[in-house]
Amino acid sequence: MIYLRGNLGAGKTTLVRALLQALGYTGRVKSPTYTLIEHYEVAGLHLRHFDLYRFRDAEEWEGSGFRDDFDGRNICLVEWPEQATGLLPPADVSLTFEILQDGREVLLHAYSDAGQKCLNAL
Ligand SMILES: Nc1ncnc2c1ncn2[C@@H]1O[C@H](COP(=O)(O)OP(=O)(O)OP(=O)(O)O)[C@@H](O)[C@H]1O
Ligand SMILES: [Mg+2]
Repeated sequence: MIYLRGNLGAGKTTLVRALLQALGYTGRVKSPTYTLIEHYEVAGLHLRHFDLYRFRDAEEWEGSGFRDDFDGRNICLVEWPEQATGLLPPADVSLTFEILQDGREVLLHAYSDAGQKCLNAL
């Protein structure tokens, strides 16, 4: 579970796009701004990319079937996780983006052993 934090335009989707391309994905990577979720299968991995900016309430959560996406078999990358506090499983890793005059600064934080392993491998 990877939380992507930062303002509009901070570079969250851009990082997901780069990650998918690095894994060998050659298709288009759209921002899930309206769909809230996009699914990807690449390098033997199941990825779920969420953008919860437009997500509104717990009722919508129940109707969406998102719960099934968090069964532990998927790598979930979540933009705007603060929109679904209390509904999302806790993060293994969070990436917090800051817009600088020239480029971006990203703060990486691990919250679990799995998350720490990922960061150690970078
Ligand atoms: N590391 C970077 N350096 C310079 N420009 C960047 C960087 N990352 C992203 N950008 C540019 O910033 C713009 C917005 O990026 P992106 O769509 O990834 O933001 P976002 O955080 O997903 O925003 P939103 O919250 O609206 O979904 C794009 O035009 C992108 O090219
Ligand atoms: Mg985005």
